Amino acid sequence: MSESIPASTSPRIAVYAGSFDPITHGHTSILRSGLKAFDKIVVAVLYNERKKALFSVEERIELIKAAVVEMGEDPARITVDSFNGLLVDYCETVGANIILRGLRAVADFEYELQMANMNRHLRPHIETVFIMADDAYFYVSSNLVKEAAKLGGDVYALVPEAVAAGLKAKLLTGTSGQ
Ligand code: PNS
Repeated sequence: MSESIPASTSPRIAVYAGSFDPITHGHTSILRSGLKAFDKIVVAVLYNERKKALFSVEERIELIKAAVVEMGEDPARITVDSFNGLLVDYCETVGANIILRGLRAVADFEYELQMANMNRHLRPHIETVFIMADDAYFYVSSNLVKEAAKLGGDVYALVPEAVAAGLKAKLLTGTSGQ
């Protein structure tokens, strides 16, 4: 007879970090899958002054919060925050030992492998877990969505409703986040 494995009592918390400029359905599909594996996910937007963004960090946070509501998942299981500095340090401040990353095409692999190994070098007890993006959104990236939208392409089915509205507003006013 097989022995039962004792259930862990501490919640499994994962940090899903990124630029999210803006969040897309590629990201929401990773989040949805991540919730099957982890009790709580902290979506953490990187403050990166060197990178020119369309949406400010505050706008990105609001868009992620709206996307979470749209997803219809239990909001108590998803926290939205921002961070700067090392991701592994941030993980420790929120009590997470998992970094959640999404994988799309093979092209993502090299960069992701480097990051995962660097993070493992910095904090061996923090594990990076990869989840494949839903095949419907395999080709979706924030950069491509922004580029296509700027050139008049209809990409609004690839992003949460709040992001579609936000993109239209940005493109009308021509403002950027930084
Ligand atoms: O969505 P992105 O831009 O691919 O996310 C990249 C991110 C934010 C996860 C990565 O740049 C990051 O972790 N930055 C924080 C700085 C850090 O910890 N660097 C060392 C690990 S490579």
